[in-house]
Amino acid sequence: MGPQRVSVPSGTTGSELAALLRPAAEVLREGGVVAFPTETVYGLGASALDPAAVEAVFRAKGRPSDNPLIVHVSDLDGARPLAREVTPLAAKLAGAFWPGPLTLVLDADRTVPRITTGGLDTVAVRAPDHAVARELIRQSGVPLAAPSANRSGRPSPTTAAHVAADFPAGVDIIVDAGPCAVGIESTVVDCRGRDPVILRPGSITAEQLGTATPAALTGGLPDLAASPGTRHAHYRPAARVHVADIGSGPSRVAELVEQGTPVGYLGLTPVTDVSGVRILGMPRDTRDLAHLLYAALRQADDWGLEDVVIEAVPPIGVGVAVMDRIRRAAG
Ligand code: TXA
Ligand code: MG
Repeated sequence: MGPQRVSVPSGTTGSELAALLRPAAEVLREGGVVAFPTETVYGLGASALDPAAVEAVFRAKGRPSDNPLIVHVSDLDGARPLAREVTPLAAKLAGAFWPGPLTLVLDADRTVPRITTGGLDTVAVRAPDHAVARELIRQSGVPLAAPSANRSGRPSPTTAAHVAADFPAGVDIIVDAGPCAVGIESTVVDCRGRDPVILRPGSITAEQLGTATPAALTGGLPDLAASPGTRHAHYRPAARVHVADIGSGPSRVAELVEQGTPVGYLGLTPVTDVSGVRILGMPRDTRDLAHLLYAALRQADDWGLEDVVIEAVPPIGVGVAVMDRIRRAAG
């Protein structure tokens, strides 16, 4: 049986939302799997404290068991029981950026099932900034383990339609509240020490972290070995993804069009002669490109494109996370 769909129209009030989400919260409490929107991407949620429910999430995604899940909570008080210690650094970052697209890695409390943490003795927690996610956490009364709601190796979903395309089965309910505002995932930061270490670049930038903790700016490159998810193949569409240098998207497109295969384009520099090219997006800035990226990769597959040109963006601010995702898509 396919997933049940619950639609949340824009303008839904707090009490209407509570009523609409009652069945989904009930399913979560009873160990089921619910896909729901966050401000970043859609998540595939289950009770983080219920090993069988978490197992169902891994199974539905086809996710390797050594890749831990992020646990979603309402606030720092919701995170406390999951961590052995909420470090001063974690408290400071949560104070500055929660609710929001920042995930904090801490030593895990014994009560967090090891299936949730991918066998690690650390736990990743975040408070999402989305009314639906927050109401589900509140009503279900449990912290929600929720990886991005895509089959493993597919682009993250930014609409309910993306989720439905990846999960004809294996999910009890999909909550549809329209497209996600941000479009790329949260920043994952190891907060166990005195200084933050970025494990996965994301929507909150190193510069933003630096305003709360100056050391984030001097922390150097992300320690990629420490975030298990960064080892696994990711976001790879069927098309070949060509990363064009900044400003040279249109000329790269022209070269490929000459070879006669269908070419898609996503980039900041406008392509003006559009014959022979399918436009996946011409965003106005890097944030806007981040917002469109995953939908564009899925669109490329739906159109059966063989080549896609994505123009590089300056690797500053959210551009760091965008280039990380584009490079992964290019393989
Ligand atoms: O924005 C987001 O973070 C979305 C929404 C749904 O919240 N979630 C998301 O989850 O992107 P997922 O599972 O697709 O990516 C989680 C990342 C992976 O790279 C994983 O390895 C890392 O977080 N992670 C989770 N727990 C960790 C831990 N204890 N230590 C280090 N990395 C961890
Ligand atoms: Mg993911």
